[in-house]
Amino acid sequence: MAKVVEVLPDLNAIAQRTAELFSDQLHTAIQDRGKFTVALAGGSTPKVLYQLLRQRSLPLSQIHLFWGDERYVPADHPDSNERMVREAWLNHVVMPAENIHPMPTGAGDPTQDAQHYAQQLQGFFQQPSSQFPAFDLVLLGMGEDGHTASLFPHTPALEVCDQWVTTGLKDGQPRLTLTIPVLNQARCVIFMVTGAGKAHAIQHVFAPEADARQYPSRFIQPTGDIYWLVDPTLGEIIRV
Ligand code: 6PG
Repeated sequence: MAKVVEVLPDLNAIAQRTAELFSDQLHTAIQDRGKFTVALAGGSTPKVLYQLLRQRSLPLSQIHLFWGDERYVPADHPDSNERMVREAWLNHVVMPAENIHPMPTGAGDPTQDAQHYAQQLQGFFQQPSSQFPAFDLVLLGMGEDGHTASLFPHTPALEVCDQWVTTGLKDGQPRLTLTIPVLNQARCVIFMVTGAGKAHAIQHVFAPEADARQYPSRFIQPTGDIYWLVDPTLGEIIRV
């Protein structure tokens, strides 16, 4: 497991670098296992990356896209991470529909939909729920409070260590999220983080000691490699 921190000039440079790493991980996965599984980040930072990926010539039929988390809204809702990815990338390329695995949000019950997604994942990875699936790549962002995916400070989702998918809660709004053990099973994790507003959180995520329940991104210590791609302000904070 390697932990790499790279300081890049701005969001576009971070997106470009992430696209390079995405391609590297993709080619290794396809060479080794014939397919590439990636859990996508939501929010706004990765939008630039997804726009870049639509311009790359990728073996789309060998890529399987999953989501690391989702707001509990319909897929056509402005807040939907699925909608964001489709608008930034998938609506502009021809990827087999069966390769796109969004988190379901239609049951009217986040817990039920979390179980549905876990069942979908277990069917795809052909693994019992007692083990955890290894995504080839997990893309993550970090909020100003140190959350990642929908693992928010001091929420029950942080304690879930025997499920693949659980429910998150942000300001009372339900979410679905992959759990910490699943994220940590990844062969490679890439955090894309920019903005001075995240300085306080990233300082505590990288500090030798801090409460991970207060800064949940600290929980992400994957068995594989982890890349933190940050802007100069944040790089200065973590003294890179
Ligand atoms: C979401 C994301 C969330 C995001 C962070 C950072 O659904 O919003 O999964 O974890 O990565 O909140 O968001 P930005 O990249 O937009 O700052």
